[in-house]
Amino acid sequence: MIRLTVNGQEQELDVDPQTPLLWVLRDHLDLTGTKFGCGIAQCGACTVHVNGLATRSCVTPVSAVAGREVTTIEGLSSNGEHPVQQAWIELDVPQCGFCQSGQIMAAASLLEENPTPSDTDIDQAMSGILCRCGTYNRVRAAIKRAAETGTEEV
Ligand code: FES
Ligand code: FES
Repeated sequence: MIRLTVNGQEQELDVDPQTPLLWVLRDHLDLTGTKFGCGIAQCGACTVHVNGLATRSCVTPVSAVAGREVTTIEGLSSNGEHPVQQAWIELDVPQCGFCQSGQIMAAASLLEENPTPSDTDIDQAMSGILCRCGTYNRVRAAIKRAAETGTEEV
């Protein structure tokens, strides 16, 4: 049995310890907001937070997060009020949406570590989160907007 906390709820799972966290989230916990893109840590669609840090769940064995706190897009806020989510809505960032939970989770992790990121900081943090629809400019603008909002709220 593997114990971990997902979106604030303790979970005890009877799974192969090598099972990627992504499949535990999607198939065992029915949290399908986290997407499968490449499965080899190349696209970022599967990004979640582990103890607050952006982590690629497709290459993270569930055993590696035993005892840790995992947050998925479903748990980032209770009703979409996180500054990143609000900025995403305000600037109408998504196109097809497939990459967007990964984009949002990476952006939220960036702003947690660095509340006022420069363009370079944003590019470095987000460069590994691929978007086949090319929403990169709106992603960057929304991160800046979320940084302003976060600052205003403090
Ligand atoms: S699905 Fe995990 S990085 Fe692409
Ligand atoms: S919005 Fe379509 S892949 Fe990013």
